[in-house]
Amino acid sequence: MILKKLYINQFRNYKETMFTFSDNVNVLYGENGIGKTNILEAIYLLGRGISFRTRHEKELVNHNIDYSNGEKGYYIKAVFKSDHNEYDTTVEISYKLEGKKHTKHVFINKKEIKARRDLIGKLIFVLFLPTDTNLIEGSPSIRRDFFHMLISMVSNEYLDTLIKYNKILKMRNKLLSIKSNDFYIYDDDLAKYAMIIKEKNIEYTLILEKTMNDIHKKIFDKNTDVYNIKLKNCLSDINTVEQYIEKLKSTTQEQIRLSTTYFGIHRAEYDIYYNNMQAKKYCSQGQKRICSLIMKLAEECIVSQARKESTLLLIDDALLELDKNKRTKVLEYIEKKGQVFITVTEKENILINNKHEYNILESQRCDHL
Ligand SMILES: Nc1ncnc2c1ncn2[C@@H]1O[C@H](COP(=O)(O)OP(=O)(O)OP(=O)(O)O)[C@@H](O)[C@H]1O
Ligand SMILES: [Mg+2]
Repeated sequence: MILKKLYINQFRNYKETMFTFSDNVNVLYGENGIGKTNILEAIYLLGRGISFRTRHEKELVNHNIDYSNGEKGYYIKAVFKSDHNEYDTTVEISYKLEGKKHTKHVFINKKEIKARRDLIGKLIFVLFLPTDTNLIEGSPSIRRDFFHMLISMVSNEYLDTLIKYNKILKMRNKLLSIKSNDFYIYDDDLAKYAMIIKEKNIEYTLILEKTMNDIHKKIFDKNTDVYNIKLKNCLSDINTVEQYIEKLKSTTQEQIRLSTTYFGIHRAEYDIYYNNMQAKKYCSQGQKRICSLIMKLAEECIVSQARKESTLLLIDDALLELDKNKRTKVLEYIEKKGQVFITVTEKENILINNKHEYNILESQRCDHL
């Protein structure tokens, strides 16, 4: 997949701006605060329908513009080409603010779509952030979300099942919280969806582990480093829907007492081990950085293989913690992968021996277009 053009209007610090990208490595460079991450944020929004930085969409509207003669809101558009299509695809998002009210419209090839689910998976990418070490050291929900997104990018059915599971869980917990005895009406569906999700999570834990080890070896040419991923709290003793329903029944009193469905796939935990050490506890900062980077590169590999489509790599300042030797090796691997967008304050940090060609975008210029 190649993102050919990005059009941004009244979004963050941008007025009206059009970017045309190279098919290879696009280095977005410029001083702090110039708007590099904002470009990645716009691409992310066009792929996922939400920002990775805020849930308050009005923050995305450029607040430095005088809107007295026009509409307050932002508009962004991506033009991209899938590896298999001759024609381009467009995704547009238009957001308008009127007083306290707001409206948002999303279009794929000019046709409006109503559910976020229909947008996910059209523009495919993997985003690397400075905060990615949270994948290793952060709360279990961060790793759960990683797995959910990874599998959702590969399987629409998984995404549908996950949406249904979360909806049912929410309704069930609501009834438990108001001490209603009717919560059991959801048990059959909850168990059915939980088992599908569990199976997929076990499958992808193994796939991710193997892919991470392969990539690490490929980049660093080292056989001695090993990653392991262990899935915990995922009802290892339950193998059928009937057993799941039975577990729900036999723990009713505890659920009522705690006012919640206190076990299930939504409480699954993934532990990541690096050379048999729990990465969270024992890895150095740089090792956590490498580990999270390899996890994301594995995500890219799994998604692009399953979708038979190259994914974009959006890399926000995520390589700078690595020593020069490792950074060079990672960059050499990344640039062979397809289209890359990488932000950096000093472009010298990203050039590998000046032997590769880059399409350098000076973010500084874009502000004045
Ligand atoms: N809604 C908004 N309206 C106008 N400007 C905004 C808005 N939101 C953020 N900004 C501005 O955008 C800039 C931040 O952009 P961004 O995070 O992309 O910077 P950056 O180039 O990635 O910087 P760094 O190198 O520090 O990461 C800041 O100058 C901030 O004031
Ligand atoms: Mg930034």
